[in-house]
Amino acid sequence: MRGMLVAGNWKMHGSMHSTREWVAMVKAISSPTCTRVMFPPFPYLSTAMQVATSDEVAMGAQDLSQHAEGAYTGEVAASMLQDIGVEYVLVGHSERRQYHAESDAVVAAKFLAAVSVGLRPVLCLGETLEEREAGRTEEVIRRQLGTVLDRCGLSAFSEAVIAYEPVWAIGTGHTAHPDQAQQIHAFIRSQLAGRDAKLARMTRLLYGGSVKPDNAAELFSEADIDGGLVGGASLQAVDFLAICAAAS
Ligand code: PGA
Repeated sequence: MRGMLVAGNWKMHGSMHSTREWVAMVKAISSPTCTRVMFPPFPYLSTAMQVATSDEVAMGAQDLSQHAEGAYTGEVAASMLQDIGVEYVLVGHSERRQYHAESDAVVAAKFLAAVSVGLRPVLCLGETLEEREAGRTEEVIRRQLGTVLDRCGLSAFSEAVIAYEPVWAIGTGHTAHPDQAQQIHAFIRSQLAGRDAKLARMTRLLYGGSVKPDNAAELFSEADIDGGLVGGASLQAVDFLAICAAAS
């Protein structure tokens, strides 16, 4: 069945020194029942992998290009990530959608680029506060997920992870109530089940948005929450480890 997974999205934080220390601390504490993935900034991926030296901590990138290669200054191709040993990649994080105008179509293209080289995409979905208050949460999630399903096909989802990250909960300290999160997770699973029952059962659904050591256990006890995508609280290895312990 689906195991738990906790991912640490460092966003644009950290240094070579903090990367080394973080990985050393996390790998020293083994975690047989919870997959742990770190998403450091691009320049620190290789450093993190050198220190990791085992599968105690898997590597993920925060973004990728939708293009395979070419004249796209500053972009990073899926094949480059795969080449250096990266396993996971975030696709469609709300900060990419918001600050880099990534449309659902671009997100789908990136998802396909990841899958085409064997990377595991972590597809991020979530509504803004305005959308929630207008009662449009399910409509937004259906559209974001549906575009990727329609354009990439069911088989592209076999190694995928989905993260529900309500935009109003990211970095704000306003965590979704576990019932609220569970309700949307169940909705996402029902959307998958509408396409394929087995895929719905097997796909891990992470919750993201102000996950902390003191709220993780309650969130992770919900039936359809299979772990977390953690931003701010992943920067300190002790907090990240406490969140992983809550998932174990
Ligand atoms: P946060 O970020 O935990 O700081 O709210 C989560 C995310 O954006 O992945």
